[in-house]
Amino acid sequence: MKRVVSGTRPTGKLHIGHLLGILENWKKLQDEYETFYFIADIHSFTNDLSTDKKEFYYDIVKDILAAGVDPERSTIFVQSEVPQHGELSTLLSMVTPLSWLERCPTFKDAVKNIKNKEKISLGLVSYPVLMTADIIIYDASYVPVGKDQLPHLEISREIVRRFNRLFGETFVEPQPLLTKYPLLLGYDNRKMSKSYNNCIYLSETEESLRKKIFKMITDPEKVRKNDPGHPKICNVFTYHGIFGTKDLDSISKRCQSGELGCVECKKYLYEDILNVLLKHQKRKKDYSNEQIREILDRGKNKAEKIAQEKLNNVKNNMGMVI
Ligand code: TRP
Repeated sequence: MKRVVSGTRPTGKLHIGHLLGILENWKKLQDEYETFYFIADIHSFTNDLSTDKKEFYYDIVKDILAAGVDPERSTIFVQSEVPQHGELSTLLSMVTPLSWLERCPTFKDAVKNIKNKEKISLGLVSYPVLMTADIIIYDASYVPVGKDQLPHLEISREIVRRFNRLFGETFVEPQPLLTKYPLLLGYDNRKMSKSYNNCIYLSETEESLRKKIFKMITDPEKVRKNDPGHPKICNVFTYHGIFGTKDLDSISKRCQSGELGCVECKKYLYEDILNVLLKHQKRKKDYSNEQIREILDRGKNKAEKIAQEKLNNVKNNMGMVI
């Protein structure tokens, strides 16, 4: 079986966009590939030096499991607990031209947005190098990522080609597996993001979910219930298409005819999303922190063994003593 590697940074609680965009995909990939999933905690420090991330590690792993990722089939671990990633990253940095990293669009964006130049760390520039190590240390053929990560993966492929040319065939060139998921907007119609404070979290309570759903922006021309609405431009309608159990055609027709008002329409959506969240939360409750620690220990052991073997192979090819 070919290998898949993917990671997620522990920057906060996960939201419904993560469930659709990442976790459900991770679950599916287990059927076809040998999968390695990890908490990219070292990467999370590139733009956030806060020390309160600990609570997210276990919470995110519980979300991963509740979404159906099976720890018997997938290797789940924490990046910093497999120190070989960092070691390989240091070696790779010797064959990575700084210019490749400086012209990476995600880096250029970050630089544009950071006013205090002292906040642009070496770690931020070399983000793609560590990410490359994460992937190629397992000989992964595929990496499921969103579009934003494609430039990083392109650098990974360039590093692999250069390394293999310099030191002989050592690494597999990883290919992106673009995840096709509907782009979820937050309840204010902007991209769902922690920084916009517009997320619907997997941990919402009935009350907090109700508030958020009823705050969602609908067709601005549908002011009163009987006004004809335009489902095509309504975020609530998009959500119905993703989470809803109601007949979409009928919602669309009744909205356009003025028979269905936004309040009633949101009530249906609220019930359907609540149902999804309650089921997820119930499955999540099955796991204790002790169990999670145990799963992460097993993951670390398995990952570390493979990673160390690869690292030895790399050092050998570079003519280092091992
Ligand atoms: N950069 C990824 C993100 O922000 C996280 C990540 C780190 C990753 N290492 C990885 C993803 C290796 C896939 C493979 O989402």
